Amino acid sequence: MTRVVMIETNMSGSGFQALRMARRLGIDVTFLARDRSLYESVPGVAEILAETVDELVECDTNDVDSLVGAVRTRQGRGPVDGVFAFGEYHIAVAAQVANRLGYPGPAPEAVRIARNKDEMRRRCQQAGLAVPRFAVVTDEDGARSALDRVGLPAVVKPADESGSIDVMRCLDAADVVAAFRAIRATPVNYRGQRRSPLVLVEEYVGGPELSVETLSWDGRASVLGVTDKQLGGGCRFVEMGHAFPSGLDQSTVDTCARLATDALTAIGLDLGPAHVEIKIGPDGPRLIEINARAGGDRIPDLIELTTGLSVLRQTLDLYLGRRPPPPAAPVGGAAIRFARAEPGVVRRIAGVELARRVPGVVDVGLEVGVGRTVRPLGDAHDRVAYALARGDTTYQACRSAEVALDQLQVDTVPVPAGT
Ligand SMILES: Nc1ncnc2c1ncn2[C@@H]1O[C@H](COP(=O)(O)OP(=O)(O)OP(=O)(O)O)[C@@H](O)[C@H]1O
Ligand SMILES: [Mg+2]
Repeated sequence: MTRVVMIETNMSGSGFQALRMARRLGIDVTFLARDRSLYESVPGVAEILAETVDELVECDTNDVDSLVGAVRTRQGRGPVDGVFAFGEYHIAVAAQVANRLGYPGPAPEAVRIARNKDEMRRRCQQAGLAVPRFAVVTDEDGARSALDRVGLPAVVKPADESGSIDVMRCLDAADVVAAFRAIRATPVNYRGQRRSPLVLVEEYVGGPELSVETLSWDGRASVLGVTDKQLGGGCRFVEMGHAFPSGLDQSTVDTCARLATDALTAIGLDLGPAHVEIKIGPDGPRLIEINARAGGDRIPDLIELTTGLSVLRQTLDLYLGRRPPPPAAPVGGAAIRFARAEPGVVRRIAGVELARRVPGVVDVGLEVGVGRTVRPLGDAHDRVAYALARGDTTYQACRSAEVALDQLQVDTVPVPAGT
């Protein structure tokens, strides 16, 4: 029997999908969590863990020694074949643990660099890659004066957050200072990890955004394809849709794929999945971010629907020391679109069945229920529903997903004043 140790998981999909897959494959899973109540507080998650995890052990998952100790305890009861994490906040520590104990995993230093946007920017710039103009600052004066180099609008972001938390587009110096203060107001992330004190002030790259999905082994990255993104949220960056494969012209797609693989080489990522974000601005493609993990928001499903390849399965295989097959070219297209609703308390939800009947639709889901409060669109948690579709072309898949969302009605009433 194959036995693995998984360190924490993200709350939004791919980690739970990986756990379900491990269960289907008959893999024995020890799940390490810092605080099981974090999972138990999310509706439905305790059930998923109960179904998919053989053993849940609490330990300090932010500490390499504590994790190594937990894995050794598990090894004491029989061989362990792999140690890994799928969620952004634990991929760096998991890479260190795997390395210390001799399991396959990405180079710890590469994952550490990917998790620290200041270092990622520096490495990629040194390698001659196209990155936005940027400055790394530690105080308000520094943030203000960075604008001389970076210009306006600017983007201000924490160095090691995820999920676009505290990433702000700023129109003037006052916005920049406010964004800096907002970042500094949260010294610890929601996983109990101390956030880097560094703040990035960057040139705003206006233009289409895409991500390049890759899998690396033997030190080389294979491109699985390129995903187009739809953004909403004004001065916030909220992903409202993804479509695979990209509908952009082949030369742009090839240039971005090359930029992504060069970036992975620059930071030394040698094994496992990556999700590399790029924006195509007036001066051409600019590298936004490297994530040393598979894309979120069901992007692995979009890839699987069009290529037949399960990124999560291949990732698991790589972490178990197996090589995946070469990537297949996509056939047709797949897309996911997210819906927003007027802020307020949800009074009525209708149209889900109608949405599911739209041709091409694969899945429709709600993120809210009646009685829940919808906030103004500020981050991914404020989206209220999604529709996932496939089509003969990416355009058709997008249309199906959009038409499905058109069927939905999430009615809200304003939150009474003073509550
Ligand atoms: N310099 C920039 N110019 C324009 N847009 C940017 C810039 N930097 C970030 N963004 C936008 O903000 C989003 C989030 O930024 P970034 O990826 O750096 O943070 P993150 O917290 O890691 O986000 P996520 O995990 O959602 O990818 C990007 O996907 C992009 O849409
Ligand atoms: Mg990002």
